[in-house]
Amino acid sequence: MLKVLFVCLGNICRSPMAEAVFRELIKRDGMENYIMVDSAGTGSWHIGEPPHRGTSKILRENHISDEGLFARKITLKDLDEFDYIVAMDSDNKESIHALRAGLPEEKVSILLDFVPEIKNKNIPDPYYTGNFSEVYSLVEKGCKNLYEHIKSVHFNGHGS
Ligand code: 4NP
Repeated sequence: MLKVLFVCLGNICRSPMAEAVFRELIKRDGMENYIMVDSAGTGSWHIGEPPHRGTSKILRENHISDEGLFARKITLKDLDEFDYIVAMDSDNKESIHALRAGLPEEKVSILLDFVPEIKNKNIPDPYYTGNFSEVYSLVEKGCKNLYEHIKSVHFNGHGS
């Protein structure tokens, strides 16, 4: 099982959105037995909460379920368990590396690293900007490209 963890600050806006979008890609492609996805925050303020209503609304508008998503904080075990740890911005990435020195560089990425044509790699935090549709569009592009990357590297393009 290949494991993907999306990480943001609060785990209520951006990373649960990415988890829901990525989960839908896996499901539509029938890859549930091969790829699993989860999300977590680097902060602990919202542990146990469902996604922000802005995230739920934009997901609903795009016919993507947010069922079963509840905020949690990233753990040291996650660093071993997950194959891809995907941050939403460079601050998140720094916080992940701060959890343990010497994490392999290739294990921790930023979602928009997978979208070369977008130069600003930081997904703006909608908790502060209120712009959930802008974030959705970035998350959707990032997730699609990450998914294709994973399939081509680990599954020989199966399902496409
Ligand atoms: P997220 O947004 O990292 O995309 O989930 C935030 C949610 C909550 C807070 C910050 C960012 N907060 O400070 O409570």
